[in-house]
Amino acid sequence: MNFELTEEHIAVKEAARDFAQNVLKQGVIERDNLQKFPAEEIKQLGELGFMGMMVDPKYGGSGMDTLSYVLAIEEISKVDASASVCMSVNNSLVCWGLETFGTEEQKQKYLVPLAKGDVIGAFCLSEPEAGSDATSQRTTAVDMGDYYLLNGTKNWITNGSSASIYLVIAQTNPELGHKGINALIVERGMDGFVVGAKEDKMGIRGSDTHTLLFNDVKVPKANRIGDDGFGFKFAMKTLAGGRIGIAAQALGIAAGGLELSLAYSKERQAFGKEIFKHQAISFKLADMATEIEAARLLVYRAAQDKDAGRNYDQSGAMAKLYASKVAMEQTVEAVQIHGGYGFVKEYHVERLMRDAKITQIYEGTSEVQKIVISRGILNA
Ligand code: CAA
Repeated sequence: MNFELTEEHIAVKEAARDFAQNVLKQGVIERDNLQKFPAEEIKQLGELGFMGMMVDPKYGGSGMDTLSYVLAIEEISKVDASASVCMSVNNSLVCWGLETFGTEEQKQKYLVPLAKGDVIGAFCLSEPEAGSDATSQRTTAVDMGDYYLLNGTKNWITNGSSASIYLVIAQTNPELGHKGINALIVERGMDGFVVGAKEDKMGIRGSDTHTLLFNDVKVPKANRIGDDGFGFKFAMKTLAGGRIGIAAQALGIAAGGLELSLAYSKERQAFGKEIFKHQAISFKLADMATEIEAARLLVYRAAQDKDAGRNYDQSGAMAKLYASKVAMEQTVEAVQIHGGYGFVKEYHVERLMRDAKITQIYEGTSEVQKIVISRGILNA
């Protein structure tokens, strides 16, 4: 397996790094404190071509491969995981889902502005009573002839109030179980669609996570993605790629913690020398670097599977499972290396530690990844 980066890959990585370090970093602590969505920064990411990275240029995208995308997500996540989850949902779930399964009309109307970064998208699967058990959708989309009547509640929706276009998964034929579920494109402003309460979260506080309410929303039939009953498979196929994006986010959070720890350990003196000269610290740094490199290889492998047209359900789930574990464990170590400074906001690592936790929860908990992996290896 070749993990050699091309000149194009290196250029994308450097552009993302430059944006993260020079633009996102300035306001990231304040946005975290105030739970402020990085609206201006996301607009700029759109102008740089980072909101529709893998979309064909004929639909307004950048036409890059998945490896470029994970390199960018890693660099953005080293600094601002709230910005990177917005980017990840828009790229992997909304744009990819529409480009792969949408009609030409849906692509022209919805994908083009999403890929250009003119508008933001959201992916709406989770419900108060359907998280990991995604087949138990209570939101209903009743077939009324030329439209669906949508009713229900969605929870924990990333980009909940900043999005304009929402992909909503809902049950049309309950007697058919997961084969009776549809995926519908809902526009902000449709009658009966209400953005509800915002969550006050432990981490990714700049990301706007909301409850959404649908009360008799009339969604045209032309807004259904794929054939009748394709909604659950649409969600599963889309999430399989989304998990690669979140794995890259987790990798970036961990790698951000390592970069800060390396710099701090060369500045901070204790017992008469820089702390990296103490084995207690240098061994921690060695463990961190090794774990992060292992996670990086899993993330790159999953991205390459997708780019090569191979199945990536397994490799994506493995990358997410492992990288999110590494993110959680190694950001705790980053705080420890920083000592008391690690516990205050100014030094960034406490935020990385808080942000890391969600990578073990969203787009499928670690337990869901283990279901996917174990079914794959057992061929069940
Ligand atoms: N590709 C294609 N089809 C798939 C698939 C995939 N990756 N995974 C499952 N399917 C198909 C199966 O083949 C099956 O179809 P058939 O009956 O025709 O064979 C059907 O879907 C049902 O599959 P399962 O029997 O495996 O379904 P299950 O009920 O056992 O659930 C699960 C499996 C993996 C646990 C799944 O429910 C799941 O992934 N749950 C987690 C959902 C999730 O990730 N939620 C995150 C919310 S989105 C989010 O977080 C975004 C954000 O804002 C950041």
